[in-house]
Amino acid sequence: MFVLGIESSCDECSASVVEDGRKIHSNIVMTQIPLHRQYQGVVPEVASRIHTQWISGIVRQSLNEAGLAPADLDGIAATCQPGLIGSLAVGLSFAKAMAFSLHKPFKGINHMLAHLYAPQLEAEIEYPFIGLLVSGGHTIICRADAFDTITVLGTTIDDAIGEAFDKVAKHYNFGYPGGNVIDQLAEKGDDQAFVFPPPSLHKGDHRYDVSYSGLKTAVIHHLDNYRTGSAPATPENIAASFRKSAVDILLSRLYRAIDDTGITRVVAGGGVAANSYLRRQLASRPGLDVHFPSLGLCGDNGAMVAGLAYHYFSRGETDSFSLAPQSRVPVYKRSLAQ
Ligand code: KG4
Ligand code: ZN
Repeated sequence: MFVLGIESSCDECSASVVEDGRKIHSNIVMTQIPLHRQYQGVVPEVASRIHTQWISGIVRQSLNEAGLAPADLDGIAATCQPGLIGSLAVGLSFAKAMAFSLHKPFKGINHMLAHLYAPQLEAEIEYPFIGLLVSGGHTIICRADAFDTITVLGTTIDDAIGEAFDKVAKHYNFGYPGGNVIDQLAEKGDDQAFVFPPPSLHKGDHRYDVSYSGLKTAVIHHLDNYRTGSAPATPENIAASFRKSAVDILLSRLYRAIDDTGITRVVAGGGVAANSYLRRQLASRPGLDVHFPSLGLCGDNGAMVAGLAYHYFSRGETDSFSLAPQSRVPVYKRSLAQ
């Protein structure tokens, strides 16, 4: 079964053809990052306008690369939630219009479930597992019992981890987007140069939750030292100490979830899953079976949408053309399933 997957939830415009949920025939990803860099953040109105300009060419390119005509497709899917509403609307409307005109099955896909599916494009992973979804907009620790059966155990009570990387980089003028820049700087820094206190979220309902606003503020408080060039406030040391604190908070909650559930298989997804310290720490933790997407599949891409959609189509599940995009998913705590 050949599925076309379209992703346009934020600033990447992507289309991909995946066969049987696994074999990637094409995965065209075009990023708008250079166009948002001057604002040091994604400008939603600009993002949706650019998606409208790019989407048709990207879909055509993905079909060409896969060597398929539109009529050869067995299903068409697009991200429908969560994300920037205008950006989502572009990919979703395009997918619906294509499916309608070609008389093909159509499915709207949850972006976070798609991120969690990304590592399964490269390896067969058994359920259940603990999912670690870390991106610019989300920080979720969950239990996955099937591709569409997810129980959210913990999330952030304020900022997402990727957002914290981006905001710290913005204040220090390290570059945009901040996650990868901080990760590179951190590789050359001393992560013990600064000690940032972890959030105190130990009681009751917050057992698996994280918080990043306090850490972000604590790091930004060192800006004056940094500007006057006082040691040890070098870009590398700030980046390394911040990266360690941000990832250690996440890992402490993840390890709790593993201990409490007894589930030792871990699957990571989302842009922050590209973080080298996170990857190293998890890979070297004894007793775990850890799966990360390859670097090219950590960020937003159409292949994860097409791959996941295959499983819905296989059991005959489609969506109506009245499906509307949703910027937020009213989940968090219980279930991500649609
Ligand atoms: O999944 P994604 O492409 O888009 C969203 O769904 O949000 O994730 C983007 C986020 C950004 O915040 C970016 O700074 C972060 O992923 N990111 C990283 C790294 N590469 C990208 N964060 C930490 N370390 C990285 N190497
Ligand atoms: Zn994403």
